[in-house]
Amino acid sequence: MPRHRSWAEPFRIKVVEPIHLLSRAERTEAMARAGYNTFLLRSDDVFIDLLTDSGTSAMSDYQWAGMMLGDEAYAGSRNFYHLEDAVRTHYGYRHMVPTHQGRGAEHILSQILIKPGDHVPGNMYFTTTRLHQELAGGTFHDVIIDEAHDPTSTHPFKGNVDLGKLERLVDEVGAEHVPYVSVAATVNMAGGQPISMANMRAVREYCRGKGIRVILDATRAVENAYFIKVREPGWSDRSVAEILKEFCSLSDGCTMSGKKDALVNIGGWLALNDDDLFDEARNLVVVYEGLHTYGGMAGRDMEAMARGIEESVQEDHIRARIGQVEYLGRHLIDEGVPIVLPIGGHAIFLDAKRFYPQIPQDEFPAQTLAAELYVDSGVRAMERGIVSAGRNSTTGDHNYPKLELVRLTLPRRVYTQAHMDVTWESVAELYEKRDQVRGLRMVYEPKYLRFFQARFERL
Ligand code: F0G
Repeated sequence: MPRHRSWAEPFRIKVVEPIHLLSRAERTEAMARAGYNTFLLRSDDVFIDLLTDSGTSAMSDYQWAGMMLGDEAYAGSRNFYHLEDAVRTHYGYRHMVPTHQGRGAEHILSQILIKPGDHVPGNMYFTTTRLHQELAGGTFHDVIIDEAHDPTSTHPFKGNVDLGKLERLVDEVGAEHVPYVSVAATVNMAGGQPISMANMRAVREYCRGKGIRVILDATRAVENAYFIKVREPGWSDRSVAEILKEFCSLSDGCTMSGKKDALVNIGGWLALNDDDLFDEARNLVVVYEGLHTYGGMAGRDMEAMARGIEESVQEDHIRARIGQVEYLGRHLIDEGVPIVLPIGGHAIFLDAKRFYPQIPQDEFPAQTLAAELYVDSGVRAMERGIVSAGRNSTTGDHNYPKLELVRLTLPRRVYTQAHMDVTWESVAELYEKRDQVRGLRMVYEPKYLRFFQARFERL
């Protein structure tokens, strides 16, 4: 047997930001003050922040140097042209407009393409994506494969579209009422699970026959490309950059939150191949975001994003990024902690239904687990279960998602292996003490995207 050899991050640390661990009594107090909602904690009260990988990554010296080259002209900033070039080179779309972040692109896309009464199939939902589709008058339909809803299934591409489900929906509502298929790569709510190149191609071919567009949520498409390289037969010799471009070529456009793969703290874009559609997008962006050459971003931020895109497709970067997620996940698996399998791209998802089987779903097991984790070790995670799923717009009852998860999300290039050790040790100890824990009661519920601001009390 060859000796096991470790890998290491392809960077060294040049600037540090101090973080502090409050006492257990202070953490208990802080969690109660935040209504048992980790979104309502103050960042200063958090030790290791795994709430999200969105806008929380560390920029490189190359990106920071680019910030000084910001051209803050109202129109025609040179940084816009650099960004446009980076999107064309690495994602391959013909046209793009910058937006302040991903949901800005989702808003514009939904307004352009969706008419009231339309139906939008997608491979599971993302919160903001679905809400913009609904606000434009559309109805979202989940057409992901069944395996995606089973945290124990080890299917390598749980983000795949179930073509049978897609076909049945289109037959039922009529292709003329399906403006596009919304494909996310990777699928955040399923556990950061990828979609295969073969499946994407099959979706593309089916949609072409029906005259339906395919729109990609490219937020974590680089991570998806890495999974294609390591999991899908026939791709191991191709670069992540090549795979990304080929994958995107199977869609008509994309929405993008640059705050993830693209290694920036703010920004996004909407890309489209069709000239007429792009004309409409360029028109609407002026109303909601800003002129089409800045779309709600400062010149310096567009420069950082252009450079972040270049860095995001480098092989050693993406291998280390997903390698760190795997490191955390492996330790949790070894401790017997129930997590979503296989290990996904941006996060480890704890399966709260199996962690706290004694807590019924409407007493919020995942919300409870996220609160317990913060109190135990100052680690901040995010609920991705019944609170995130919201209510049914017709009946007003909770949506009861099959997946009741807590997401430990890893910012890129921010935390070390020691931070990962502190995290899995805390989760493992909570799992040992799981029998003593009871759920929560919701005492305040906002109307939209309730998970951000809802408040709870201990039962
Ligand atoms: N699509 C996906 C797959 C996302 O994960 C997000 C954001 C968005 C779109 C919206 O982008 O935040 O820039 O407006 N996800 C964050 C998260 C919030 O924590 O997963 P945005």
